[in-house]
Amino acid sequence: MGDPELANPDDIFEIENYDNPAWGYTDGGMLPIACNYLWVCDNLLDPSHVAWVHVTSFAGAGTGDAPLKVEKTDRGVIVSRWIHGQPPSPYYKDLVKFKDNCDRKQHYELCVPSTALNKSIYTPVGTGGEDAPMTNQTYVNISYNFMTPVDENNTQYIWFQHRNTDPNDADVSKKMNDGAIIAFNEDKVILEAVHANMAEMVTPNIDLGLDLGAKTFRKKLQRLIDAEQVEMAEPA
Ligand SMILES: [Fe+2]
Repeated sequence: MGDPELANPDDIFEIENYDNPAWGYTDGGMLPIACNYLWVCDNLLDPSHVAWVHVTSFAGAGTGDAPLKVEKTDRGVIVSRWIHGQPPSPYYKDLVKFKDNCDRKQHYELCVPSTALNKSIYTPVGTGGEDAPMTNQTYVNISYNFMTPVDENNTQYIWFQHRNTDPNDADVSKKMNDGAIIAFNEDKVILEAVHANMAEMVTPNIDLGLDLGAKTFRKKLQRLIDAEQVEMAEPA
């Protein structure tokens, strides 16, 4: 986006473990969504949406009501929660390397301008929690999402997933990718409806507690956009 002459390679988003041979990745994909890119950003700071939008994949006990933690970072905002002692969600049930219930973390991180790092951690019951060390059974999958605005009403949603298991297992990669495509098309339906309906809002906006992460991110991004506009308006 923008003037290629002004692009700084140092700003390219870092993929942690990119060169780690123990990690596997999916092909990912690109999904056009007829909505403003900020609606997609909001969505990726809302761990609770899976309880309603992704019932057959990412939903699970606690995803609708376990308490959330909101943190500001230098590069954006993280909304996260630990859910303890529950079965893994349907999408991860056959991917994790242990049986029975788990402790699960939903880590939803948005980085300016519009890159999401969506980390799922599944670990045997009793081994999860803030500052708990990883065990050799801890399963991590990170979905990287690069929201690219096309115009005010359209976004290219570009993504892939990176996991700490099965580095060379093409079947696992395909299964994960196919499942993600189904889930992201569920998001697309909701996001396009949000975009259309919010454009013709007939009742006042209501902010819920779980909107805090999205509101915080939008404020940070707007400050940066405003600063850039001032910079561009000033004569060199
Ligand atoms: Fe979603």
